[in-house]
Amino acid sequence: MYCIKKITDNLLWVGANDRRLAMFEGVYSVPDGVSYNSYLLLDEKTVLFDTVDKAVQARFFENLKEGLGGRKLDYLILQHIEPDHSSAIEALLTKYPDVTLVLNSKSADFVSRFYEIDDNVKRLIVKEGDSLCTGQHTLHFVMAPMVHWPEVMVTYDSKTHTLFSADAFGCFGALNGAIFADEVDINRDYFDEYRRYYTNIVGKYGTQVQALLKKASSLPIDMICPLHGFVWRKNFQDIIRPYELWAAYEAEEQGVMIAYASIYGNTENAAEILSSRLRETGIKTVMFDVSVTPASEIVSAAFKWSHIVFAASTYNSGIFVSMQALISDLVSHNIQNRTVALIENGTWAATSGKLMREMLEKCKNMRFVGDVSIMSSVKPDKLDEINALANAIADTFPDKKPVALGTFDVDALWKIPYGLFLVTAKDGGKDGGCIVNTISQITISPLQISVFISKESQTHDMILATGELCVSVLTKSAPFSVFEHFGLTSGKIKGKFENISHSWSESLARLNNGLYYMTNHTNAVISAKVTSTVDCGSHTIFIARVDHAEILSDEESCDYDFYFKNIKPKPQNREGQVGFVCKICGFVYEGEYLPEDYICPLCKHGAVDFNKL
Ligand code: FEO
Repeated sequence: MYCIKKITDNLLWVGANDRRLAMFEGVYSVPDGVSYNSYLLLDEKTVLFDTVDKAVQARFFENLKEGLGGRKLDYLILQHIEPDHSSAIEALLTKYPDVTLVLNSKSADFVSRFYEIDDNVKRLIVKEGDSLCTGQHTLHFVMAPMVHWPEVMVTYDSKTHTLFSADAFGCFGALNGAIFADEVDINRDYFDEYRRYYTNIVGKYGTQVQALLKKASSLPIDMICPLHGFVWRKNFQDIIRPYELWAAYEAEEQGVMIAYASIYGNTENAAEILSSRLRETGIKTVMFDVSVTPASEIVSAAFKWSHIVFAASTYNSGIFVSMQALISDLVSHNIQNRTVALIENGTWAATSGKLMREMLEKCKNMRFVGDVSIMSSVKPDKLDEINALANAIADTFPDKKPVALGTFDVDALWKIPYGLFLVTAKDGGKDGGCIVNTISQITISPLQISVFISKESQTHDMILATGELCVSVLTKSAPFSVFEHFGLTSGKIKGKFENISHSWSESLARLNNGLYYMTNHTNAVISAKVTSTVDCGSHTIFIARVDHAEILSDEESCDYDFYFKNIKPKPQNREGQVGFVCKICGFVYEGEYLPEDYICPLCKHGAVDFNKL
């Protein structure tokens, strides 16, 4: 039976899922399956975008038949000839022999190498900039070589602003009923698979992905339809921003990935000691046994983290096999811009350190910060070397000095007034921050605070997704620009931590958990992990357990009264104007009546905070 999904009134998903496939491309495990997306546009002409893997073609043909509803198929656009999208072509041509194949010259070459296609089959060869009018819609063809094969092209529908993006913006994992990314929790449930898909499938081709991103940035986009995974119709930055980072080989997170290959556990022991020392300096670490964890997961993590430690035994006068394979994989995926440290082990003639370095030196911008060589097992004299390596790594962490452990000061919570606070969060590579006025300490054991945040705020969504937040208690010295920047603009439109021109931006630093806080105009910083939430309509109350509290200065906290009297600019003379003014941010609503459920578009306060002019 067919199973199609409606994307718009005349665009259908007619693809299929494969949940039995063990290894995608024969090399990447797909425990949650994979989707092969095919889209059918029902315009005056009917247009199919790509086919599916032949393993699932039976369902695909049922879907296509149902989608066409008795109409003939006019065009098949072949954006990518890799067989996971093209291997149903021969069968399709037996069912729809009058279809016209739309492809570029390289695709035409590739398709003839894979399949037997009769010369009589109609072909429309397109190139960069060509377009095809199908009635109401005009489809524009944009070449995207090496994203992921040389023949790849994407298609832009200028009527609906839809980008059919081929492999770009795809993801491993079958579609389990939902078709739109906004129907699921991408950050919690899918983001790791988006990264694993990107890094392993197109990670090598960052330059080419950047070229496609640049082309796409010049187009208005309301929908992205990739060949795997979800369709995007909102929150585009949630996928485009990570693509920008990955394509530029920039780390998503500051922290250390430790990959080790150990024969009898001694190399693992050295790696664990190093990880433990790094954690004690407040640096995040993750560890992988490269003989156990699939390489695709470690490649993905290498793209995520800023620092990588490789620890390997010497084996057959070389690098232990699983580590050699991993590094080879990373080099071929073009990993670059990472800070690297090495640990080698060998009972006699240890060579793995030197050899690992030689392999990694082929990558661009790898900064080597130190190495340790152990002989068989970690002896007391090696602990100092491992500690020194941990310190050398810690010294490379950016400007944003981690807060040393041991400064937890519960008195920091005494700084909380009915005041004004900067609350920050971080989700993946994105930082968020907003101004909040209601925070309380609610229990001492465990030490918990409550934080009220508007659901309109992007920071709200980040806290909901990650369960982590940081509070900077603002002081009376805080300039209005702090409140304006974090309170009166939307992070959904413009990243709040990008290109800040105010002098106080110099005082933004990161805690150990990676969240921003302010060191100036702030008298205390409190970070906490959410333990529960209360939905209060316009706001969510986050109950959060304090995991760090520190007094930063003895300046007085800024309370609401002080803010209104001394910081907030005085209202303009609006004589003769009819309307209501938001007493929080000064936004003016023009009109005789203010709806009860009105929300200020700037600061997100409700009608109760408006005064009649
Ligand atoms: Fe999903 Fe490159 O094929």
